[in-house]
Parts: sequence; structure tokens; C-alpha cells
Amino acid sequence: MKIAIIGLGFVGLSLTSVLSSKGYDIIGIDIDKEKCEKIENGISPFFEPELEKTLQNGLKKKLKISSDFSLIKNCDFIFVTVGTPQNTNGSIDLTIIKKAVSTIAENLQKNKKKPIILIKSTVIPGTIKKIILPILEKKSNKKAGKDFGLISNPEFLQESSAIRDTKFPHAVVLGTNNTEFLKKAKKLFLKLHPNVPIISTNHQTAEMIKYANNSFLATKISFINQLSNICQEIPGANIDDIGKTIGLDPRIGKLFLNAGPGYGGSCLPKDMKALINFANISGINPSLLNAVEEVNTKQLEQIISITKQKLGNLASKKITILGTAFKPNTDDIRDSIAIELIKKLLKKKAKITIHDPKAIKNTKKIFEEKINYAKTINAALSKSECVIIMTQWKQYEELTNNQFKYMKTKFVIDSRRMLVKKQLNVDYYAIGLGRKN
Ligand code: UGA
Repeated sequence: MKIAIIGLGFVGLSLTSVLSSKGYDIIGIDIDKEKCEKIENGISPFFEPELEKTLQNGLKKKLKISSDFSLIKNCDFIFVTVGTPQNTNGSIDLTIIKKAVSTIAENLQKNKKKPIILIKSTVIPGTIKKIILPILEKKSNKKAGKDFGLISNPEFLQESSAIRDTKFPHAVVLGTNNTEFLKKAKKLFLKLHPNVPIISTNHQTAEMIKYANNSFLATKISFINQLSNICQEIPGANIDDIGKTIGLDPRIGKLFLNAGPGYGGSCLPKDMKALINFANISGINPSLLNAVEEVNTKQLEQIISITKQKLGNLASKKITILGTAFKPNTDDIRDSIAIELIKKLLKKKAKITIHDPKAIKNTKKIFEEKINYAKTINAALSKSECVIIMTQWKQYEELTNNQFKYMKTKFVIDSRRMLVKKQLNVDYYAIGLGRKN
């Protein structure tokens, strides 16, 4: 059995590495030749725990990496894992996936087998039926359901635990109307994940499940963030005790109740916008989803207003940002709230110094010489008038008075409540904590 994986980003490269390390015969394909070369040499193009080790394991077995799509011709399964970015109006940009399926279709003509194409990329409901299927049939001169299978197979992995999530997903969703190909796909997934529920449904529902998942997670975050804002007005109140306690109710669930500066990353903000756009086009007013987004945007304004309350005019004020990655254990800064914060502070002419254990290189690509990059936390704090903790990197938990002494004004804004239990000799302001009267 041969498997091709098209698009070697977080999802594609994790799947490629996990399957090949288990001994499957895998071809990982990406149009970016430079990226392919790195991967072939066992180097991941981005930081993800466990990824490089798993990839290197796969390379010792039957893994091949290439930018040549013709290699899919003998494959039994073809996973499509290319990106689906967003247009300026929030709608989803299908250029990359359309191109990828066109090339797959051209190569399907030569395929003697009846391969199953599994779409893992996130696409708006109706896309597979209305756009992807017609491209595949037209360009290959073959019929879906007869000559090849087409299945919607959304992905739920999280960055920073991509390998674990690929090995142990909470569910497998297979969207198709064809029972013969569904049976074959089920056989593969049952072998891969013996005890994981497999949900068989149609294309549209499978596509919608992905948006339901991500928009519900975003809703949980905005809910706890709004409550955290209320808590800030109640002297002594603590949002973490509230989140932990309501999370014990199985109807609520304990995860994704950590208040913070708002959700970021390459998925939740983009998928929320795409779903809102889709609802509007469908004639449904997405009032709840709009509110979730609004709370998310306002969360950052709050941090800026706390900074201004304390520092006054921000022009020339030296502000330190700890963490630019959108979450810890990644170097990904896409749609990171910290990046948004820096942009806003720069507009107010503040002087910014940043520290991040992994994301400095990516941050430099955006801001170049406009901000300072500190190699150590101490250097980042030196002479600073305000430090804002944005990402929950483990090392920021270790901060003590010893390090804050390098600051000019000891003013700490902790958007993740990492230092809440410490006796600090600083003016400490944390999101979600009621200030004493
Ligand atoms: C998200 C989903 O969690 C995955 O299930 C999904 O597969 C993925 O998008 C995707 O569609 O590809 P990811 O983007 O890796 O995964 O990031 P999350 O862990 O969901 O975090 C998103 C943002 O929410 C981060 O900025 C994080 O700091 C924030 N967050 C998360 C909170 O502020 N509080 C929480 O309790 C949880």
C-alpha cells in the first residue's frame, strides 16, 4: 500500500512523519523545492516538538520526499493537506487547493489503481462537492465514486502537540457518499487508530464539523475572557479558580477555559472569519460568532489601555514583550496577538524590545529593525518601563524580583497569570484578577 501526502505544512508533515515512522510506504509532496530538500535531510522547516525525531525515523524507513506530483500515480491513498488561507474579506482563498487538486487530477489519468483522495485541508461546506469534485473529474476524465474515491477528512491537531495528536486523534471523520471507498478508508483508519470513534457522514457535514469544532473552541475562549474582564472589577476575584471549577462540570469540560489576551494562531481567527462570512452569504445572521470575535478583538485593547493608564503617553516609552509566538512550544507567529500588540504599540511610538525562546527569527521577518530583539530575559527587561507577558513559555514562570530589578519602572502586565502566586516587589497587573481596592 502506497500513500501520498500533498502539502508539507504542520498537518501534512506531521502525518508524513508519523505514518512513515510506523513503516508505511509514504511519499510526501510539496511544490517548495527548498522545503523538500530540508525535509529530505531530516530538518523540519518549523519548530514542532517531536517532529524532527519522528521525521528522521521515517526517513530511515520507506519515506520519500519530492516536488514531483507524478509520483502519486501508484498510490492507494492521497491526502491533501495544503493551506487554505483567507481573503481580505474573511472568505477562504481556494487558489492553492484548486491548483493542488488540478495537478492530482492530471496525474490520476496515469493511475492504474482506484485511489482514495482524502481532503484534510479546512474548506467551507459545499467546497468538495461544488469545486473539488468537478475539478478532479474534469481534469482526469475519471468518475468519482467509480474510478477514484473522494473523502472529506478534517484534521483536529493542535500545533505544539501535532505529533501526539496525529498519533492519538479524539475522532476520525470520513465524509463521503460512496460506501465502497468508505469501507476501504475505514480499514486504514481502524488499523491506525483502533479505539478511536470513526464518524461516517457526507461531505458537507464533515466540512461543517471542522468549523463547528474551531468556532466552539473560540467561543469558550471569548466566554472566559469576558468573564475575566468582569472579574477584574471584583476586588480579589480570580478567573483561574472560576475556570477550573466550572470545568469540573462534565457538561462544560476543563479545557480551553484559560483567560488571556485573546485567541490567535493560523486557525481559530481564520476559521471564525470564514464561518461568519459563510453564514452571512447564506442569509443567517451569525450574531453569537460576531460577539465571540468582538470580545477577542477588545481583549487586546484592554492591555493597551492598562499600559496607557500607568505610563501615560506611550511615545518613547521602553516596553518589553515576553513571547511573540501565538502559544508556547511553537515558533509560529501567524495571527499572534503579541504581534498585533507590537504593531499597535509601534503606532503609538513606543520603543519595543522582545524576547521569545523560539520565534525571534519569524518576528524579525515582520519588524526587521523597527524593534529590539533580546537574547536573554534579563537583557529584555533592562531599563524597561513596562513588561507585558504574552506567551506562556515555561521560562517566564521562573521570573523573580531578581530579574525585575533591571527594570527602570517595575510595572508588569501578565496576560496569562503566570506569576500570580509569587511575592513580587512590582506593580503587578494580571488579566482576570480583581485588583485590591
Ligand atoms: C486549533 C484547534 O485547537 C485545533 O483543534 C485545530 O485542528 C487547529 O486549530 C486547526 O484548525 O488547524 P491551534 O491553532 O494549534 O489549534 O491552537 P490552539 O491550541 O487552539 O490555540 C489557539 C489560540 O487560543 C492561542 O492563541 C491560545 O493562546 C488561545 N487559547 C487557547 C486561550 O487563550 N485560552 C485557552 O484556554 C486555550
